[in-house]
Amino acid sequence: MSILKFDHVSHAYDGNAALDDVSFNLNKGEMICLLGPSGCGKTTLLRLAAGLEVLQHGRIKMAGKTIANAGTGLCTAPEKRHIGLCFQDFALFPHLSVMSNIMFGVAAGVAKRKRWALDMLAKLGLEGRAEDYPHMLSGGQQQRVALLRALAPEPGVILLDEPFSSLDANLRAQTREETLSLIKTTGSAAMMVTHDAEEAMFMADRILVINKGRIIQTGAPAEIYSRPVSPFAASLFGPVNRLDGVVRNGRAETSLGAFAAPGHGEGTKVQVLIRPEGLTPVPEADPQTSPCTAQIVSAHFLGGVSHLHLCQKGNKELLHIDCQARVPGTYLPRPGANIAFKVDSAYVYIFPQSAANSAPEPQ
Ligand SMILES: Nc1ncnc2c1ncn2[C@@H]1O[C@H](COP(=O)(O)OP(=O)(O)O)[C@@H](O)[C@H]1O
Ligand SMILES: [Mg+2]
Repeated sequence: MSILKFDHVSHAYDGNAALDDVSFNLNKGEMICLLGPSGCGKTTLLRLAAGLEVLQHGRIKMAGKTIANAGTGLCTAPEKRHIGLCFQDFALFPHLSVMSNIMFGVAAGVAKRKRWALDMLAKLGLEGRAEDYPHMLSGGQQQRVALLRALAPEPGVILLDEPFSSLDANLRAQTREETLSLIKTTGSAAMMVTHDAEEAMFMADRILVINKGRIIQTGAPAEIYSRPVSPFAASLFGPVNRLDGVVRNGRAETSLGAFAAPGHGEGTKVQVLIRPEGLTPVPEADPQTSPCTAQIVSAHFLGGVSHLHLCQKGNKELLHIDCQARVPGTYLPRPGANIAFKVDSAYVYIFPQSAANSAPEPQ
């Protein structure tokens, strides 16, 4: 059942479009991640949901009731929307204790929510810190307090804008796991902004991929990863190999072999994208496969996986290969060596050459 609904929402700043005809539903108890490059409109979408921006076009509903309607000018005040906010910089009140920060928006059942807050602080490793002030806490601890503050009034929806971006990598991984588990135990629906695909895949029941103010794909993480709708959506998850191909007999012929190309006309030029993990080194003599061969340009050991940079002989194209699960991280051929490899078609995506999509901007 839908708890938050965007209906044909568009928004512009000084005539420049930030969101363009956005419609989606957030369901009860669901975690949606908004994934897209910097400047694509993610924060604007959250601010509109929270009531921090006046809606210009479309309608927003919460629990079946319209809370903003550009047509009639209706705009429910932020504090009446029953939405919790947890933004990038935590924005804790420096002059209030941890407990006062958490209880800031709680209007009813204060004693009960205080007990809840003490319980949660203990669960999150902050036992005995309720009367401390924000400056006495580390970044990770402040993030947890900000999350508790957003959850304390028992909102129907919680909005998180890059909530882990100021934490270092290790702390980020731990904090996101705690955050997800805490939100799931409260039963609150959540919408989280990130430009980190791995974070989105970890947290989300459903991902909305956004580019230039438009939702270009929605789906479960595995669905988006394995069936991207465009080169842009494919490359959000990391570097991909791009090859030119031509469709002959229903297959896209490339320098790495021919791949089934249903839906692409005979003779059309296509762009073939292959994820690095779709390339697996094999013994050259393996009769089960018809391997491609390439020369190692460089090889880097990364722990669990090795990153190989390959160059095909007699071909100017360079291929970047991450050898993942199927190759031990200790597989590290020397530069100049020739290797054989096969391509797993599950990691191959074919798009019309004319697909007007660009790679994500650098973050
Ligand atoms: N207050 C503002 N005034 C003018 N332009 C803005 C404002 N906020 C955002 N923008 C512009 O709107 C676009 C979308 O911004 P934003 O929603 O912050 O994107 P994201 O969160 O995905 O990085 C960007 O081009 C940004 O520069
Ligand atoms: Mg933003």
